[in-house]
Order: sequence, then C-alpha cells, then structure tokens
Amino acid sequence: MAKVLVIGSGGREHALAWKFAQSPQVDQVYAAPGNPGMAQVAQCVDLAADDVDGLIRFVRQQHIDLTFVGPEVPLCAGIQDAFAAAGLTLFGPSKAAARLEGSKMFAKDMMSRTGIPTAAYASFSDYRQASAYLRRQPMPVVLKADGLAAGKGVIIAQTQQQAQQALKEMMCDGLFDQAGASVVIEEYLEGEEFSLLSFVHGETVIPMEIAQDHKRAYDHDEGLNTGGMGAYTPVSHLSQSVVQEAVERIVRPMASAMVKEGCPFTGVLYAGCMATAQGVKTIEFNVRFGDPECEVLMVSLQDDLYQICQDVLAHREVTLHWSKDPVLGVVMASKGYPESSTKGAVITGLDEAEGIVFHMGTSVRDGQLVTNGGRVLMVTAQAPTLLQAQQKAYAAVNKIHCDSLFWRTDIGQRGIADRVDKNGKQE
Ligand code: AMP
Ligand code: GLY
Repeated sequence: MAKVLVIGSGGREHALAWKFAQSPQVDQVYAAPGNPGMAQVAQCVDLAADDVDGLIRFVRQQHIDLTFVGPEVPLCAGIQDAFAAAGLTLFGPSKAAARLEGSKMFAKDMMSRTGIPTAAYASFSDYRQASAYLRRQPMPVVLKADGLAAGKGVIIAQTQQQAQQALKEMMCDGLFDQAGASVVIEEYLEGEEFSLLSFVHGETVIPMEIAQDHKRAYDHDEGLNTGGMGAYTPVSHLSQSVVQEAVERIVRPMASAMVKEGCPFTGVLYAGCMATAQGVKTIEFNVRFGDPECEVLMVSLQDDLYQICQDVLAHREVTLHWSKDPVLGVVMASKGYPESSTKGAVITGLDEAEGIVFHMGTSVRDGQLVTNGGRVLMVTAQAPTLLQAQQKAYAAVNKIHCDSLFWRTDIGQRGIADRVDKNGKQE
C-alpha cells in the first residue's frame, strides 16, 4: 500500500486529497499544511508549503511514495528540483518548467517562438516605454503583471485613461509588488473561455475533460478578476473539434517546445483557452491544477488518481474516464474578496448541505469552523443535467450560514443558457 503527501491548504488540495484517499492502492494520505476539510480524509501535518527541507525530512521519515503539489508558488520556487535531488518522487514541474506560469513574459515568448496561437502582445520593464506603447493600443486592452499575483494580476481596461492609471499602479506604485515590475500589454480577445488541463510528462500529453471557470467576482462577469468563483465540467456547448484544436495547436506543441528548450514539463499543464472567431487562442498557462477547476474535475474523474500519476511518470498509456453527469461547484468567498478579506466568521450548516463541500479557506477556532481568507468553501454537486447540478449546488449553498460570505448566483449559466438557445428547451 502506498502513502501520498498533498502539499497545500485550499479547495484544490482538499479535492486532491479526497481523490487520493479513494485509491485502493493508497492507505494513507498526508496533507501539508492541509485544512479542516482535508483533515476528514488525510492526516494534516504542520509543515508550510514552502518548507522544503521540512517536507523532504517528513517524506523520508514516513516513507511517502508520492508527493503532489497543489499551488504554483512552491513549484515556481523549485520544490520539484529539491525533491528530485533527494531522490524523491514529486508529481510537478521543475523550476525551469514552472516558468510557464511564473513569468508571463517567458510563456508569451515560448508561444510566439513556437507559433502557438495567443493574443498579440508586447512586454516591458520600462514604464515610459510601456506607457508610450499603450497610448497606441485600441481599447479594451489587457495588462498583466509578469510575475505571480494569485490570479489577480490581470487588468482589463476599457479606456485609455483607465489603462494608463492601471499601468502606473502596477509599474510605479507596486500594486502587485515585484510581480508588476514588468508587464505584458496584450490584445483583448473576445470569445468563450475554457480551461484545458492535461497530465504531461515530456512529450506525453493526456488531456482531461474541459472545465469552465468564472473569473470575475460578481454575476454577469462583473467586478474584478479573482482566482475563480465557480466551475463546471463538462462544457458541452463547446465542440470536440474546438477542444481537439486546443490540444493539437496549444498543448502538444508547448510540451514539445519545453522538451526542446531543455526544460521538459512534468505535471499538470493548464491551458487557459479562448475560442475566438479566429480559432482557439491561449490566454495563459498554469503549471498545476486550476482552483476551482480541480474540484469539479476530481468529482467527475472515474479513475484512480494515484495510478494515473504512476502511469504518466512511467510513460505508460493512460485513458481517462469521466462521469457522464455534469459537476458544478459554487465558491463562497469572504465579502470584500478579491480586494480584501476577513477571517474568523463562524460557519454553520455544513452537515445539512447535500453535495461535496471542499474547504478553500477555513480554520477551527474554539471548536467552531471559521472563515480564514478570501475564498472559503467550494460547494460542489453532481446531477444528470447541468441545470440540476446547479440547482443542487445552490440548494446546498443555501443551507450554509455565515454572515460574511458572498457568492455568484449564476455559476454554470453559460452552459445552461446555451442549451436553451440551441434546442428551444432546457437540456
Ligand atoms: P490570466 O491570469 O492570464 O488567466 O487572466 C485572467 C483572466 O483575464 C482570464 O481568465 C480572462 O478572463 C481575462 N483575460 C486575460 N487575458 C485576456 C485577453 N487577452 N483577452 C481577454 N480577456 C483576457
Ligand atoms: N481557476 C484559475 C486558476 O486556478 O488559475
């Protein structure tokens, strides 16, 4: 029997630990540092996600067979390299390969050299040059901080004045700290967005079912960009040919390009894609599971995640199986997110909520479950139709009580509304 360590403390890691715990080959899952939800399926250990020496010591002591990293920060800092040097198996990319997420400039450069479709762009580390270039761009325009900014480092400006203001805040006023010292200025793409995640090991690419995230904070895609306010899978209104195009023109070429670049990618490669009138284009790459995409994908995945990791690492052939029933999840976030967040508000009603509730940001205080950050819970449900999954998820959301939470009320609506349009009736 095998032991698995999941690194991280959010909803994505809760879903991963939950899934690993179901493997008939795994008898113990550990989570570092984990969260109260993960404690139901794993043993939480008090080690931070960036305490690489401590984690390596723990993995050696406990004879852990596989370590799976949830968040991008330790991957970009080189945790895989440290584990590899210690002779330990960690499913995730090296520091060099993680630059696909850690530096938007690196990702854009790799895409343009490889001919991978993406928005036209220019990158700058000089404010005056950036400002002059920006003045010549049509609106809307997209500004991206070069470095990591927890999914919030993107600003879509509607007017030249807004764009110049945002550029100044990023490059001169430290809006995203060092991450914004360099920026990418990008053409605004219009179309339907989707998340295509794949297990990748060198040239081996095993695409998953696609999912759709909801990045903006409020209903009807209003408000600021967030880490994601809800997700669902599959996305049936996008055709298989669109997905195939994304696999063949975006994911496979990037996996090959990384091999040629001397930094082969191992792990989960996340392609944020936009189906535009001019074909599928890349919005971004991430070097790990998306959060909240991971939660819905893990509920839908019918196969043993531990076996998948072993097979991918051994370059064995893998066929993934997904549930026919859609899965939809609603994020409950602290009021004020993504700009600010509160902690310590008591949450009740979880036991009455039907469905699977993944913990994104919770802790326990005086024996009570309390909020502990921006995104707090991901309430996930599965049903024979997307509409039913949506109704079930919101029924569960309404059972959960906490004064300081808000959520979007339209998760999955694009998938449902589209069905109404095309067929004249709902699913
Ligand atoms: P990113 O962190 O690069 O995924 O950007 C966050 C979100 O901003 C994306 O999920 C899109 O919704 C939006 N976005 C980013 N780049 C573009 C673009 N070039 N055109 C339109 N929307 C974009
Ligand atoms: N849900 C988007 C991300 O994880 O980056």
